[in-house]
Amino acid sequence: MCGIVGYIGNKEAYPVLIKGLQRLEYRGYDSAGIALINGGTNIYKVKGKVKDLEESVKNKDISGTIGIGHTRWATHGEPNDVNAHPHMSENGIFTVIHNGIIENYSRLKSKLIDRGYSFKSETDTEVLANLIEHIYKVGNISAEIAVRLALTKVVGAYGLLVTCVDEKDQIIAARKGSPLVIGVGQGEYFFASDATPIIEYTNSVIYLNDNDVAIVTKDSLSLKTISNEKLLPKVQKLDLDIGEIEKGGYDHFMLKEIFEQSKSINDTFRGRLAIDNKDLILGGIHQVMPKLIDAKRIIIIGCGTSWHAGLVGEYLFEDLAKLPTEVEYASEFRYRKPVIYKEDIVIAISQSGETADTLAAIKLAKEAGATVIGICNVVGSSIPRETDAGVYTHAGPEIGVASTKAFTAQVTVLTMMALLLGRKRNVLGDEKFLKLLNELSQVPDKIAEILEQSDDIKQVSKLYSDAPNFLYLGRGYLFPVALEGALKLKEISYIHAEGYPAAEMKHGPIALIDEKMPVVVIATKDKSYEKIVSNIQEVKARKGVVIAVVTKGDSVIRGMADYVLEVPDSHAVVSPLLTVVPLQLLSYYIAVLRDCNVDQPRNLAKSVTVE
Ligand code: G6P
Repeated sequence: MCGIVGYIGNKEAYPVLIKGLQRLEYRGYDSAGIALINGGTNIYKVKGKVKDLEESVKNKDISGTIGIGHTRWATHGEPNDVNAHPHMSENGIFTVIHNGIIENYSRLKSKLIDRGYSFKSETDTEVLANLIEHIYKVGNISAEIAVRLALTKVVGAYGLLVTCVDEKDQIIAARKGSPLVIGVGQGEYFFASDATPIIEYTNSVIYLNDNDVAIVTKDSLSLKTISNEKLLPKVQKLDLDIGEIEKGGYDHFMLKEIFEQSKSINDTFRGRLAIDNKDLILGGIHQVMPKLIDAKRIIIIGCGTSWHAGLVGEYLFEDLAKLPTEVEYASEFRYRKPVIYKEDIVIAISQSGETADTLAAIKLAKEAGATVIGICNVVGSSIPRETDAGVYTHAGPEIGVASTKAFTAQVTVLTMMALLLGRKRNVLGDEKFLKLLNELSQVPDKIAEILEQSDDIKQVSKLYSDAPNFLYLGRGYLFPVALEGALKLKEISYIHAEGYPAAEMKHGPIALIDEKMPVVVIATKDKSYEKIVSNIQEVKARKGVVIAVVTKGDSVIRGMADYVLEVPDSHAVVSPLLTVVPLQLLSYYIAVLRDCNVDQPRNLAKSVTVE
């Protein structure tokens, strides 16, 4: 994870770096630092957030038109001032910021120690800085060659920016495994882990590919591979609006993103769901459709919330397209020696498109010859570039670390895919297809209706913000929603919460239920409604507190539950998209009441680019 940012041009670099770091803080926020080149190199770095860094540089020299900055999620070495980036090489020749992990750092470090180098920090990045310096001094070569040669000795992942005191007018950027984007301005260049720090200056960007090295001055950019083959930079136009990455009057990005869901789902539909033509178009998977039609199995891989979306996908593909589907944590899949057939379709789901475990699982699936499809939110990220085909969720930038609108967009895409496949595989009749298409098209309006109850949800949250544990129960399509509801609460409020299939309650969790245990039951009207009503009675018989998410007008559960949160009536197939919204709000309000940092919960990061 970690966010990196850089600037070279005629402006003062400091404001660009600080603003950029604030935008990238979702990637890691345990320490932050900058290096400014102005004659010499001034490095400022502190444990804490970007605002702590700003505080620490008051009255310091922050001038310079070249600079690099870093916001850290610690991998090697605890978060403290010394381990914070940038790292300078022993003799002060090179300064490096790095996102990723140098896996062979310990071996490299021993060799450098043997050659007389000493280390101030515990980081793998300082090893890299010294390795570059060592190669530079011994070889008497240019900074660029030293960086490239050093990178050939490195095992692991990196997005990095390097400056050299002997070649003050340039920044060297390199990427392998961790993302890096370069913004192209007039006589200036911007560097960042994603496009959000760049968009307010330019919408022309170059996405670096693995093994690319860019040598950049304010007036020139030369791109090559680590092994010195010249490359032609491909400048792309960004379709991103600055308003999308600001809070827009909301207290937190997470709240903004929850409230954006009617719009974001409409954006996911755009150009795809043609209700008038009674059709669905998913251009990104068109070319692999024959393989999808003939597939015998789908394997869905993802992590965190994306894995939960995958679980909904399993119900959808089996129900609507009659396609056997397995859902795997990407991290387990890659190490489990999975049996993958050439005919398999592997769907990788990822908001960021950068999750290291998901990328590694994709590689494995490709090696086995399977067709790999990506469902990603961040346009131009690594996963869409690694997959055979894909569908962007187009939910817009998601900045709150806890995923909300990306989840509903992922589930929307999966629903569209399952409907399309059901039809193409001739297992879903026209009538049902159209009915479900229609149901799906109504989701944005129904979400808007749910959001109108946010004050009621806030009231309920006040009653349980001190609870030490929560249980979430759901059946069928709503079981993954129970998992997602529990994850949201854990992530941002630090309350222990577990999601369970409601029927499993009697095999263990029921032992936990007493008058102090809030049980959130997702119990909208579907074919297992009667069964979940029985589960609610079982909780009440043990004096548990029931907060039920029900279909609007449900008087039966209202009579049993302590509190009900209503969602509009809908078909079970689209019910995850609706029922998850009150759970997102419940977690949000509880976290705010507990005074937690909602957008940047402790220990978490949004883009997990380490294994
Ligand atoms: C992190 C984030 C989660 C996210 C997960 C997978 O843990 O905090 O919100 O669900 O990574 O990320 P991805 O970008 O692959 O969806």
